[in-house]
Amino acid sequence: MRFKPLATLALVAASAAAAPPSFDTLIARMTVEEKVGQLSLFAPVSAGTVGNPATRQPSAAEQRDDLRAGRITGFFNGQGLAIKREAQRIAVNESRLGIPLLFAADVIHGFRTVFPVPLAEAASWDPALAERTARAAAVEATADGFRWTFAPMVDIARDARWGRSVEGSGEDVFLGRQFAAARVRGFQGTDLAHADTMLATAKHFAAYGAAEGGLDYNTVDLSERQLREVYLPPFQAALGAGGAAVMTSFNDIAGVPSNANPWLLDTVLRGEWGFDGVVVSDYTADEELIAHGVAADARDATRLSFLAGTDISMQSGLYRDHLPALVASGEVPMVRLDDAVRRVLRIKQRLGLFDAPMRGLDGADRTDWPEHRALAREAAQRSIVMLKNDGALLPLPKAGQRIALIGPFAGAGDLLGPWTLFPGARPPVTLEDGVRAALTDPSRLTVVRGSGIDTPLRGGLSAAVAAARAADVVLLAVGEGEAMSGEARSRTDISLPAAQQALAEAVAATGKPVVVLLRNGRALALKGAVRDAPALLVTWFLGSETGHAVADVLFGDTSPSGRLPVSFPREPGQVPYYYAHPPTGRPVPASQPDSFYKARYLDSPNEALYPFGHGLGYGDVHYGPPVLSHTRLPWNGTLRVTARVTNRGTRDTTEVVQLYVRDRVASVTRPVRELKGFRQVHLPPGASESVTFTLTRHDLGFVGRDGRPTVEPGDFDVWTAPSAGEGAPASFLLELSTQHHVGQR
Ligand code: GLC
Repeated sequence: MRFKPLATLALVAASAAAAPPSFDTLIARMTVEEKVGQLSLFAPVSAGTVGNPATRQPSAAEQRDDLRAGRITGFFNGQGLAIKREAQRIAVNESRLGIPLLFAADVIHGFRTVFPVPLAEAASWDPALAERTARAAAVEATADGFRWTFAPMVDIARDARWGRSVEGSGEDVFLGRQFAAARVRGFQGTDLAHADTMLATAKHFAAYGAAEGGLDYNTVDLSERQLREVYLPPFQAALGAGGAAVMTSFNDIAGVPSNANPWLLDTVLRGEWGFDGVVVSDYTADEELIAHGVAADARDATRLSFLAGTDISMQSGLYRDHLPALVASGEVPMVRLDDAVRRVLRIKQRLGLFDAPMRGLDGADRTDWPEHRALAREAAQRSIVMLKNDGALLPLPKAGQRIALIGPFAGAGDLLGPWTLFPGARPPVTLEDGVRAALTDPSRLTVVRGSGIDTPLRGGLSAAVAAARAADVVLLAVGEGEAMSGEARSRTDISLPAAQQALAEAVAATGKPVVVLLRNGRALALKGAVRDAPALLVTWFLGSETGHAVADVLFGDTSPSGRLPVSFPREPGQVPYYYAHPPTGRPVPASQPDSFYKARYLDSPNEALYPFGHGLGYGDVHYGPPVLSHTRLPWNGTLRVTARVTNRGTRDTTEVVQLYVRDRVASVTRPVRELKGFRQVHLPPGASESVTFTLTRHDLGFVGRDGRPTVEPGDFDVWTAPSAGEGAPASFLLELSTQHHVGQR
């Protein structure tokens, strides 16, 4: 007997009388195959496996049969309403139980309107901005029928060789937590029942960014303490913001692949954190347990994956192929299967899919959202980081100068960045478009490619040199192409490709002032003429409004306000590099940087070329010393730290005041600095502002030797600074309270 949605709804309603629907009645009516179907997610064969390796695909007819048999819980990355409308119609009207499908997608940084890549947006140091762009992306994606996004990616990344740094929020735990929570709020809105909200997915659980050698998919081996202190907190922040889905990571941690890690997926995620949402595998990550060498075959991989706590299998088909037999044999208890199915049905119910499965699928495809263009431009502006501006070369005048825009990124291409699967019909604004639109006389602009991304161009250097000689100022657009950043894009050398470095050297040799416009998805090791250029803007992959945003900053319509979310090392060989590192037993004395038998390289200073948090504006900001409300912080007390900042410049600027602390002595080594707060302040010329942060002992905690959150009394240094590499500390004492147990020393 077939259940119309209404009938299914009645089953749901009947069991939803009190608490969240138990779905007991519906589940009791489901066959094992139908239950397993709710745990099987696929790409629609009509769309193919975009952004992923190809896998064996059924025919369209076979996939329709699967829908009718209730063997599919949803599709992912099939853009267009027609696909979803037809599939949903079949699932709801032609299957026995009429359980609606859930449509998912990689909506990572925009949908039709493409916002800056997440790492760029993190450079805005404005989580509220990230919430706004995630919200706009959800509005666009839900208009295309998607109600589940595989975002935010919250992996902390400290090795710039890893290509997926581009998808996250950088190297720092505090900043990463803020952006993780903000993006979940943006995607999920206030109520997942609203038609323009999307289920967010915290990924990739866990420690994917700690891949050995920065080599994507590679093994991860770190202490539980490091895992809990660095890599898990952004997930906790995402779930704390209401995130209701988690995606497993491809990597193993200490020999146990995440997809088959019951300690991670059950003991920590569900046991300690109380997570009751759904866990979805990454793409064929269950099948990859065979390649990992922890599963003998697909059946074994299915058993390990499901029993570890992975609810939904993505694309491999393993659950559909092997779970029924595992249940029949008793290796997988039926109650475990029912629990997973219940979690999936509850998510679909929260999304309103049982109430209105066809809601939002009956419109026309939209490929342009003019109302989001201003937001894309604002987000791009605020993601730009000005690393240097010697001689106040910037901002440039809009008239009176001949400008040469030179480099492989001057024109079309490589503007949107990785994981841009659904760009709108309107082409992104190129650097050339933006600069030309900003100039009083566009004829004063000459554009020369000069070089390929990886290879020289015949005659490119000579054309570039000629253009530079004929210009008053050069804009040099160099960096990484999209194909050098993102998944499976690890690089052994994070310098610029040789062809582009040669272009930079040739252009610099003309003696004309050069403004470097970096296109990048990771921290880069800048060398020679690129490093030595008088002005350097990090422009990442800025999305649909790239050209206008860069021009807005170049010509002073807005002051650059971005700050680095990742350290820029001096040398490729310094990675993995991050500012919040332990001191070691032989730290290099600041006063004697060349001292021997200290923790330093022979061929490079340890410091970053540009530290985490660095970025300049068009003002001239000066910091007073941090002023503390007390020099002793009682165990239950609050300490206020105030910084007075003054813009002594002649132009408006936005400053990001950063609060760092250091625990001088603890039962485990503590980082030389850790970000504990930041505040953006707008400073007109001559303005001063006092920025006050509050600290309690809860801001000073860490994961102790026992793996538990710990706070220990003692001396702390505190900075209010423009980056992790600047400022002089003040100090305070956190006083022990006799009635509180503290971690063992
Ligand atoms: C990819 C990525 C993951 C993405 C998924 C679906 O392999 O690792 O981030 O969401 O597959 O496209």
